[in-house]
Formats: sequence, structure tokens, C-alpha cells
Amino acid sequence: MELCVIGAGYVGLVTAACFAEMGNRVVCLERDAHRLAQLRQGLCPIHEPGLQVLLQAGMQRGVLSFSDDWQASLANAQVVFVAVGTPSHEDGSADLQHVLAVADSLGQHLSHSCLVVNKSTVPVGTAERVATHIRQGLRARGAAGAIDVASNPEFLKEGSAIDDFMRPDRIIVGTNSQVAAQTLQRLYAPFVRNRERILVMAPRAAEFTKYAANAFLATKISFVNELAGLCAQLDVDIEQVRRGIGSDRRIGSHFIYAGCGYGGSCFPKDVRALIRTAEQHGYTPAILQAVQARNEQQKTWLFNALQQHFGGFLRGRVVALWGLAFKPGTDDLREAPSLVLLDALLAAGVRVQACDPAALAGIAERYPVALTNGQLKLCDDPYACVEGADALVLVTEWKQFRQPDFPRVRGLMRMPVVFDGRNIYDPSELSTLGYLYHGIGRPPVGHCKVTAA
Ligand SMILES: NC(=O)c1ccc[n+]([C@@H]2O[C@H](COP(=O)([O-])OP(=O)(O)OC[C@H]3O[C@@H](n4cnc5c(N)ncnc54)[C@H](O)[C@@H]3O)[C@@H](O)[C@H]2O)c1
Repeated sequence: MELCVIGAGYVGLVTAACFAEMGNRVVCLERDAHRLAQLRQGLCPIHEPGLQVLLQAGMQRGVLSFSDDWQASLANAQVVFVAVGTPSHEDGSADLQHVLAVADSLGQHLSHSCLVVNKSTVPVGTAERVATHIRQGLRARGAAGAIDVASNPEFLKEGSAIDDFMRPDRIIVGTNSQVAAQTLQRLYAPFVRNRERILVMAPRAAEFTKYAANAFLATKISFVNELAGLCAQLDVDIEQVRRGIGSDRRIGSHFIYAGCGYGGSCFPKDVRALIRTAEQHGYTPAILQAVQARNEQQKTWLFNALQQHFGGFLRGRVVALWGLAFKPGTDDLREAPSLVLLDALLAAGVRVQACDPAALAGIAERYPVALTNGQLKLCDDPYACVEGADALVLVTEWKQFRQPDFPRVRGLMRMPVVFDGRNIYDPSELSTLGYLYHGIGRPPVGHCKVTAA
């Protein structure tokens, strides 16, 4: 099929690359000139395992191209995917300016019948709004063409996006049109060969399903984090409790890890948007409000624990951070817990040494002053990062940090203290090596006398 994907971000690029890989001809339309130039040179502008190879393969076979020309990109398109950002307004609602701007551009440039498919995460009723915008544009130009708008929310996870797209748990197709449903079923057929996983439903139900899924996953995380806080009071290790409940098939073992909070471009904004939608309808979303509040609190956990450890005096301390991206496998820093911690540490006069396999460039862009005045140092090597540190904080559980040479780390640090923001280390092993270990929702293990800064 001839496809156009609008927006070359995490979702748009993966969608374009995967459909091209299956033999479709795809034009990816992007308005950011810098990003477009990178893509045309075969360079992937984001860190996503396997994506660059797939993009280059599609370009070499001549089935994938990048453009900012609406007319040319749409000329042959049978299906147009919209994959632009939907950030939060100040009141928490989804900001639809990019989606509606795309709809207006489609109204200005489409001149044949086609199916428009919304992949962006959008509130209930947006497919209808998009259709209205497009049709208004077509009418104003006296252009022909029947436009159908379907909802097809995306469920990929950054860090494993290609695999998620190629082997989806399910594909949600929101449409009332049998023809549109059949078109999408045909397009997705190569991705669901071994099991029927395409669920066709009303567009409004499809739009809501995406928010419901993210809100549920965020709820699991905040629920466990709430229990972790109580565990800390009761001298109970949340890790033992997690294993205990996760083995129950009704509960499941995923998304029940205690940690320093969820971040990223989806959970925080989607929970906020769902809360706002409920409020706009006079409905009190008490559970979602608690999920959000718990997560905000959770993001301050590491800083509070550091402050307590140093008796409230953090100025002049050196703290090493391992992991900055909101999760392993991505360079995405949107709403990352690391940013809340970094802001607090820098404001408290701490010298921060930070290491991340993919997100250092993003951090450098965000903290130019601290970098210039030397309060923040970015390190490629985890061992260089801990040199002279008064504490080590694991924020993002990249594989590189999972099994470090802890005796070597101890030799490099000024004080052997570890704050494990993802509960990945073995407390007894670390205490045997002479560390003081702090995890989230687990009793501290070991000793370390705090000396002057
Ligand atoms: N990132 C994820 O893991 C993920 C997963 C599932 C769903 N989503 C949803 O998918 C949507 C896109 O997310 P993302 O993370 O890919 O966003 P992103 O910010 O990474 O990418 C959006 C891209 O669209 C481009 N763009 C914006 N307006 C445009 C226009 N008018 N014309 C052409 N290009 C335009 C931007 O320049 C940018 O490159 C959001 O609604 C998000 O909630 C994201």
C-alpha cells in the first residue's frame, strides 16, 4: 500500500519503518528541518534499538522516504497516519494543536479519497473533530474526495518499540466503517499472522482504550509504590512482597516494581488528561488523582533519602547518578524522575556526576549553566562517574548498571553508600562488601559513618 506517516518521532518513525519493512511504500512527513536533514542522511534522530538499521534498509530499498512537502507526500497515499505529539495543556488536558494543525493541512492538500488514521493519543471525540477539520478544508477548496478518519492508538514501548510494533499484543482499530476496518486489517495482517489480535471497535472506544491502558499501568506502579512506603514503616522488604503477589496469576508480575516513580512522554500526561476529561464531565476520578499524587511524591523519594542520610546538609557533597533517561533503552527524558532529582540536588548545592548510555546530550541541553560552572559533570563511564562520590544513586536500571564491579566502585567512592532507586541490587551482598544500602520500601542494610564534606 502507499502510506504517508505524519510526524517522525518515536511513534511515527517506528510506524513508517515497520510498514516499509513489510513491503509498503511509505513517505514520512516531518516539519522539523533539522530532524528531516538527519533522516535524509540515514541518521536516526532518536535512540531506539534497531530503528536506524530498519530506516536505512527501507531507504536503500527505495520504499521509505522523508519529506516536508505535503502535496508530494500525499499524492499517492491510500492511508495517512497521524503520529504527532499531544502534550499537556497547563490544566492537564491534551493539547491537540499539532493534531488539528495536521487535520487542517490535510484539508488544504488532499485531493483524493483516503483513510486518515490517528495514532496519536487523543481524547474521546478527536476522530470526529479531525474529520470535521479535514472536510471543512476540502469544502473550502471545492476539492473532491471522501475522507474517513479511524482511530488506531499505538501501544509500543520506548526501548523495545520495533519488537512491540512487529509483535503487538493487540491492534485497536476504532472505526464505524467496514471498508476502513478491512483496509487496516489488510495492512496489519503481516504483524498478526499467528493469532487474531485486531480488535475493531467504535472510534470513541478506541480512543478511550489507550488512556485506560496507560492509566491502569500507572495505577499498578503507584499502588506498589504506596505499599513500599508502608513497608518502610513496618520493616518489611517490598521485594519479597512483590514476588509474593506477582506469582498470583490474577495479579501478574509486570508493572509491580517499587521505584522512584514513572516518567516518560505517556503515563504522566495521559493520566493527567484522563483526570481532566473526567473533571470536565463533573466526574471525580479519585483513584487517578491518587495515582498521580503518589507518583509526584515518589519522584522526591531519592532526594529526601539523601537529605536524611546527610543530616540535612547536602551542600558541597558529591553525588553520582547512574541512569538519567526515563527508562532503559531510550534517550527520552520527558518527565524523567532523574530531572526532579537533578533539579533538587543542584538547588541544594550538591556536585553531581552523572552517567547514562543515551541521554547525556539531552541533559547537556537542559542544564547548560550547571555544566559550565562545573556543578554538573557528565561521564560516559560509570566508574569515572563514582570517583570521589559521597553517594551513588541508581536512577534508571540500564543493563550496564545491573552487575557493576562493586569492589572497584567502593575503591573509587569517598563514602560507600548506595541509593537504589529501582531495587535492582542485593542489599546483603552490598553490605558484605562494606556498603550502606538504601532501597525503596526495603529496610536499609549496612553501615557508613557520614564524615564532613
Ligand atoms: N513515545 C511513545 O512511547 C508513545 C507510545 C504510544 C503512543 N504515543 C503517542 O503518540 C504520539 C506521538 O508521540 P511521540 O513520542 O512519537 O512524539 P514526538 O514528539 O517524539 O514526535 C512527534 C513528531 O511530530 C512532528 N510534528 C509535529 N507537528 C507536525 C506537523 N504539523 N507536521 C509534521 N510533523 C509534525 C514533530 O516535529 C515530531 O518530530 C503522542 O500522542 C503520544 O502520546 C507515544
